[in-house]
Amino acid sequence: MPEAARTLVFAANWKMHLAPDEARSFAGIFLASAPPVSGRTLWFFPSAVSLEAASTAFQGRADIRTGAQDVYWEPKGAFTGATSTTLARGAGASGALVGHSERRHVFGETDAETGKKVRALLAQGLWAMLCVGETLAERDAGTTLDVCIRQLRAGLEGIAAEAWPQVMIAYEPVWAIGTGRNATPGDAATVHRGIRDELDRLGARPAGRVPVLYGGSVNQGNVASLLAEREIDGVLVGGASLDPVGWARIVATMP
Ligand code: PGA
Repeated sequence: MPEAARTLVFAANWKMHLAPDEARSFAGIFLASAPPVSGRTLWFFPSAVSLEAASTAFQGRADIRTGAQDVYWEPKGAFTGATSTTLARGAGASGALVGHSERRHVFGETDAETGKKVRALLAQGLWAMLCVGETLAERDAGTTLDVCIRQLRAGLEGIAAEAWPQVMIAYEPVWAIGTGRNATPGDAATVHRGIRDELDRLGARPAGRVPVLYGGSVNQGNVASLLAEREIDGVLVGGASLDPVGWARIVATMP
């Protein structure tokens, strides 16, 4: 694919930060400093309470989408604290993260649960950004790709062929998240190739290229070298996405 035709995805995971008023002021500064760039899609994943404020603030920018950080698979009911796909959509979400390592490792989310969440999103015509990645112990044991493949298979089980265009993958080594350590671009690209091969086996390719993003301590200093790898279709960023000016620089980065 020629460089000009490459589509890149820049995703901001705000985690448990930025209240509605802070999300609005972030958007004001960001929009003034980050004009749309052709061939780039930007995603913001605010906390559930700030989803509507962020979605409203970014309305009118066709290159920007907002999503939830997590969803529950049941459509409604007595599930205190949970957000259904329909509630998220009502607050302006076009999709959601699924299986972020903090959901898996802090909240005990299982592989099977990620599959239910992905299927619930796709059934509503929403996007799912499935996060996969190994812990340090798994990496040291040489099982990085096995872990990612297991998480991919469980998360993407039973997907209808026509739903693939709504799927994105984020490879985030757990040991690189919020730690200041990140995989070298070459190491990340190797895992991305393994993920792509598995997506192929799962039947993703005929419906188009599923974006595979890298995440884990991405910042202004390392984003260009990561994006220079052809296997890396974008980045999912936590800490460095909380400053609107810094984030505007990241989304303008040329590989
Ligand atoms: P980080 O988080 O950029 O702060 O490492 C990334 C993520 O968890 O999505």
